[in-house]
Amino acid sequence: MHCRRSMKRYCRKEKMIRIYKAHNYDDLSRKAANIISAQVIMKPNCVLGLATGTSPIGAYKQLVEWYKKGDIDFAEVRTVNLDEYIGLDGSHEQSYRYFMDHQLFDQVNINKVNTNVPNGKAKDVESECKRYDALIDSLGGVDLQLLGLGHNGHIGFNEPDSAFEKTTHVVALTESTINANARLFASKEEVPTRAITMGIKSIMMAKKILVIASGADKADIVNQAFNGPVTPSVPASILQLHGDVTLVADEDALSKFCRTI
Ligand code: F6R
Repeated sequence: MHCRRSMKRYCRKEKMIRIYKAHNYDDLSRKAANIISAQVIMKPNCVLGLATGTSPIGAYKQLVEWYKKGDIDFAEVRTVNLDEYIGLDGSHEQSYRYFMDHQLFDQVNINKVNTNVPNGKAKDVESECKRYDALIDSLGGVDLQLLGLGHNGHIGFNEPDSAFEKTTHVVALTESTINANARLFASKEEVPTRAITMGIKSIMMAKKILVIASGADKADIVNQAFNGPVTPSVPASILQLHGDVTLVADEDALSKFCRTI
């Protein structure tokens, strides 16, 4: 009995992370968009967990193109985004709501009422976090969560040493993130210092997870996250314990990946 159990666990571990190697960013974006559209075709009213950042831009562009050709229908799709800056209104160009509207929502037939991004202008941000968790619950959970990977292994705004057991919560941005973001704002003083993010626990509760990573600058962290030990110092490493993760990465991002794939 003991043997059968450990064998089962071992087998699950083996099939935990599917890895698709893409030739380049365009190929990666097409592969990721294919996985997202397969989800939408299989379950037209699915809940997509979405990310902002550079990594998913190509996949969103591809989805828009397929929508325009009549190959994908977003009419019943519901979405929840990972995170949002506190203090930015959805009309602010640097807000994640603005990003999503421009990159995807305004270009497809999704019902905007069914798109959700944490409210960065909420008066009571702690209540906003609770509301967001309850909302995800009421939607029946996330069917497919799309994730980009930070250079330090962050997922959402869950920076190294974040507690694994958190759901949606408020985070203080690190000085290095604030400095990195300063170029996008008129002055450093305008850069938000806090954000609302789905927590590691919220991410791990998604039924399926799709991680995308592109470029040589992500090679170290891809290897650490998917080959290294599971540790809070590399938040994405927790994904090794999820039962259904797909990593789509280009050759550059996989160039330091030690396993044979
Ligand atoms: C975005 C997010 C972040 C990014 C990550 C990677 O909503 O939560 O975790 O996914 O910082 O960003 P890029 O894709 O710009 O390298």
